[in-house]
Amino acid sequence: MIKKILVWSHRWLTLLLLPLFALIIVTGAILSFAPMIKDASSGPEAQEPVEVERLLQVLARVDPQARSRALEFEEPGIALVEFSRQGQREWHAFQMETGQRLEERAIGADFFHTVQHLHKHLLLDLDIVVDIATYLMVLVIIVGPLLSWPRLRHTLVGWHTVLGWVGFPLVLMVSATGVMMALSLGTPQFPAVDRDQGHMPMAQAIERAVQEGGLTHVRDARRMQTAAVAINGQAGGEAVAFVVTRDHVTQVGRYPGLVTELHEGTWAGGWSGALNLLASALLMVLMLTGLVSWGRRGLQSRRRTGDADADILVAWASQTGTAARLAQATTEALRDGGARVMGASLAGLDASELKAFRRVYLIASTAGDGQVPEPARSFLKALEGANLKGVRFAVLALGDSSYTHFCAGGLTLRDALRQAGAEECLPLVRVDREPAEPWTRWLQDVGEDVGVTPGAVEAPRGDQPVTLTLKRRQQLNDPDDPVTHEVWSLDWRSAEPLTFRPGDLLLVAPGEGEPGRPYSIGSSSEVDPRRLLLTVALTTRQDAKGNDCWGKASGLLCRGLKEGDTLDATLRPHPDFNPPEDPARPMIMIAAGCGIAPFVGFLEEQAQGLRSGPAWLIFGNRKRAGDYFHGEQLERWRAAGVLTRLDTAFSRDPDGGGYVQDRMRAEARTLWEWLHARNAVLYACGNAKTLGEGVRTALSEVLMEQGGLAPEEAQARLRQWETEGRLRLDLID
Ligand SMILES: Cc1cc2nc3c(=O)[nH]c(=O)nc-3n(C[C@H](O)[C@H](O)[C@H](O)COP(=O)(O)OP(=O)(O)OC[C@H]3O[C@@H](n4cnc5c(N)ncnc54)[C@H](O)[C@@H]3O)c2cc1C
Ligand SMILES: Cc1cc2nc3c(=O)[nH]c(=O)nc-3n(C[C@H](O)[C@H](O)[C@H](O)COP(=O)(O)O)c2cc1C
Repeated sequence: MIKKILVWSHRWLTLLLLPLFALIIVTGAILSFAPMIKDASSGPEAQEPVEVERLLQVLARVDPQARSRALEFEEPGIALVEFSRQGQREWHAFQMETGQRLEERAIGADFFHTVQHLHKHLLLDLDIVVDIATYLMVLVIIVGPLLSWPRLRHTLVGWHTVLGWVGFPLVLMVSATGVMMALSLGTPQFPAVDRDQGHMPMAQAIERAVQEGGLTHVRDARRMQTAAVAINGQAGGEAVAFVVTRDHVTQVGRYPGLVTELHEGTWAGGWSGALNLLASALLMVLMLTGLVSWGRRGLQSRRRTGDADADILVAWASQTGTAARLAQATTEALRDGGARVMGASLAGLDASELKAFRRVYLIASTAGDGQVPEPARSFLKALEGANLKGVRFAVLALGDSSYTHFCAGGLTLRDALRQAGAEECLPLVRVDREPAEPWTRWLQDVGEDVGVTPGAVEAPRGDQPVTLTLKRRQQLNDPDDPVTHEVWSLDWRSAEPLTFRPGDLLLVAPGEGEPGRPYSIGSSSEVDPRRLLLTVALTTRQDAKGNDCWGKASGLLCRGLKEGDTLDATLRPHPDFNPPEDPARPMIMIAAGCGIAPFVGFLEEQAQGLRSGPAWLIFGNRKRAGDYFHGEQLERWRAAGVLTRLDTAFSRDPDGGGYVQDRMRAEARTLWEWLHARNAVLYACGNAKTLGEGVRTALSEVLMEQGGLAPEEAQARLRQWETEGRLRLDLID
């Protein structure tokens, strides 16, 4: 619980105060150049204090109207004097001997003054805001090392942690001294000044310090408030500092004092300025690495989440998202209970990674006709020949007992894990349809096995029943061309407003007791909450007697229902296949045939201005003239710039471009640029057998050819991209 609060405050305070922190750090970095410039520009006798009589003569000459605010001596024989004129501050350089102004000398002090004003007061006397931001920055810095031990890992979080630990004394020094200054701790105290007394002329202040404090030499002097002057110099050969008001001459240990000098990087001239610059750079890098890794993790949240030092893995194998959501809830509940947990899809895991965990809990559904969900199939393959001795695991298998092979996906994975030498630590639990209750019980057993009490996390929101009326049904392929598959666009209306995104699923059960078949939704409730669009292919299969007949659900949708009929169905969120969370992120959509279904909705959002990032569609089918689904609309979107690029591949047309994989290969360079340099998300939707493998193979070729990766490296990169949610496949099984 305490750790949760610490993590929360470390992240959220930084995020909330990001602009302020950035401003304070950047202005601080600029200000740390001042002592370095000063050090570099001054000669060997620099900083030699100047005799009082000589100085007073100079002042009489250059400042007859007593308007100077500060005095400094950087080079022998030259005095730098700051004047204020009508609120403006200007520095001028004077020859001490003659009192002559050195016009050509460009003085950067005015620039530094403005930056300092920004650093301290945000230019608007908002000192209190800066003070509070500084207190909170110190809090964020102190909390950092409490969150995890430094471990050398070549990841963003790894660097963030190590830099946070190594740089801790330095960044704490610059920020904590800021707090001390705000609280007047460790800074010289002097008598209260009556501001109404009007400003104290510099010469007069020096004379008073001579009379009452025995001042003989001046190193620098500046007006602090209108009626006080601080002087650094010498008395009787000793370094002294005075604060002079009209009523008092107070000797202070050192002005501005060690705290301020540490904060300003002036305690050892140029070197200390460079150290402060390093501190500012470190703070900036920490802020950026923290934010980027956190942002990335947010982006990956549905694919891989977790504590860097996790010893428990909750993995999932999911076709339509249910197992993924349950796994996420499991991760959260165990973490709330105090366990260190990582959540990951099997799609992005290497079999050997399992060995790094004390326990592995797997939630797996079943797809197709008793198969392991498509995203987990390469993991299953990799289990052959793997050695997982010592790995202890448990499986929650999701399924539907109306299918012949009930929970076969989970059972297959369990058997393969055992085969590889892993040992089951809890008996496998089968879930028949609604998972909320069995999952809650399983979670308690898992908690006991881990040794924690799982937090009270609700079972994820599941399917939502809906009633739809068929408004319009339109055939998309050419009915006279037997080469094309029969595909329909179905436009539905709901009396109630619904909430869904393109890529979510509508489950249609063709009859009582029948399982629902998923169909990708090609519209967005953000555009119209009452309209739902499907693209459905009529499937043909053989019945028990071997006669050809229509698929039950697709037969009902494409042939059975009439316009105006109603249908009871279920909405299932499928967040892994929704458009990118960041609306400006480029997206590449690869659709084969009916796989165009979700992308019509992606592009509808784009056309409505809900997305701003570039969009590239590669569509493939058999014949441009016969089955270019939604072709006219797609061409209009391309003309209007909704689609940045549109490529097609029609395999049965001469010069049609082959298959989508062929287009991908032909556009390898652009594809690489979008994926590698522009951080695009690639979505692919189509038939599992043909498209899934085809897209992966074509992509790994692109990675080898354009990125110069070796075959295994390309495979690993694809796995990484799947983990990060950069590569998302939705395969119609
Ligand atoms: C994530 C996803 C998205 C999809 N999106 C689309 C889409 O946008 N458009 C589209 O056209 N298709 C889509 N599909 C395919 C769709 O879900 C159906 O599989 C397809 O329409 C065939 O269903 P059917 O009922 O017509 O055929 P059927 O042959 O009657 O059934 C297909 C499958 O349902 C199961 N099944 C059938 N009868 C029974 C039974 N008695 N008991 C148990 N199980 C049974 C079997 O697994 C069978 O293979 C998608 C599939 C998935 C997994
Ligand atoms: C197309 C399809 C095929 C399915 N095949 C099976 C099956 O063969 N055996 C089974 O027990 N469950 C089967 N199911 C049921 C799913 O495993 C179950 O709905 C699960 O909760 C889905 O989880 P997921 O969303 O994580 O994929 C199937 C579901 C769908 C949509």
